[in-house]
Amino acid sequence: MLDLIHRPRRLRANPNWRRLVGETRLSVDDLIYPLFVRPGEGVREEIESMPGCHRFSIDEIVKAAAEVHSLGIPGIILFGIPETKDPEGTPGYDPDGIVPRAVRAIRAEVPELLVWADVCLCEYTSHGHCGIVADGEVLNDETVERLARAAVVYAGAGAHAVCPSDMMDGRVGAIRAALDAADHLDTVIVSYAAKYASAYYGPFREAADSTPAFGDRRSYQMDPANAIEALREVELDLAEGADVVMVKPALAYLDVIRRVADLVTAPVAAYNVSGEYSMLLAAVAAGCFDRKRVVLETLGSIRRAGAGILLTYHAKEVARWLA
Ligand code: PBG
Ligand code: ZN
Repeated sequence: MLDLIHRPRRLRANPNWRRLVGETRLSVDDLIYPLFVRPGEGVREEIESMPGCHRFSIDEIVKAAAEVHSLGIPGIILFGIPETKDPEGTPGYDPDGIVPRAVRAIRAEVPELLVWADVCLCEYTSHGHCGIVADGEVLNDETVERLARAAVVYAGAGAHAVCPSDMMDGRVGAIRAALDAADHLDTVIVSYAAKYASAYYGPFREAADSTPAFGDRRSYQMDPANAIEALREVELDLAEGADVVMVKPALAYLDVIRRVADLVTAPVAAYNVSGEYSMLLAAVAAGCFDRKRVVLETLGSIRRAGAGILLTYHAKEVARWLA
């Protein structure tokens, strides 16, 4: 017999001990489910690289939103795929654009479900960049002006939150001022504060047809090598009036989530992005993992890192497993 004083296994001996000493918990309460809306009627097309995720027409997305609500998930985040794109991304701030129309339809049918609207131009620009381009450069201030217009349009349609994902400087302050001037005092700003120039957005860009036609997003999204800079971005966005700050992607940036969570008193969200979803499901399809176990462990790691809110394409299956 070993002469041991401490035997940590005592507290792992059965499920009730494990429940009592569990430090973090994944709950349906933490989840936001991303949804893609596109033109048409009766359309529900699966996104090839994201099995189980679809692009919906407005009539179909209302049904999808109702299902999310019935599963007990608090909210959705909407991404729009417009009929046409142009260099200035005007379909992104058209009051009759695809997202405001979807927001109105969802709010009418599923009024309690939180509806967040992603605010960026890349789904709406013909060149696929997140802003206005001149001489091969993405212009900051000209872009911010359009983003503020988009935010007011989405808030006017009834979005509970607007979520700038562009990484232009000063957009949170400009959006707050524009929302307040339009009397949308209670519209929440969920800022993609620390958003990295990541390869993990690949499947999303297929879904939204938003791959940049030239260059990449490294002149505005963050360098994956940096963590202190993420804290600066978070501090600036909070100073400008962000209500919630987000780190994106999640899994390769768990250290950043932890540092942000230790720094701020605002709620911290993390985006478990498209590539993280596709990667896991590809490994499940190859027979490497049990889907439920690996998904719960993975999302649990994001909670443990310090995120209180998880945006994830796994939200519906997690809600079913935890029910
Ligand atoms: C738009 C936007 C992107 C994502 C969320 N908002 C794509 C990008 O920046 O290229 C990625 C979401 C995902 O990969 O799941 N700027
Ligand atoms: Zn963008």
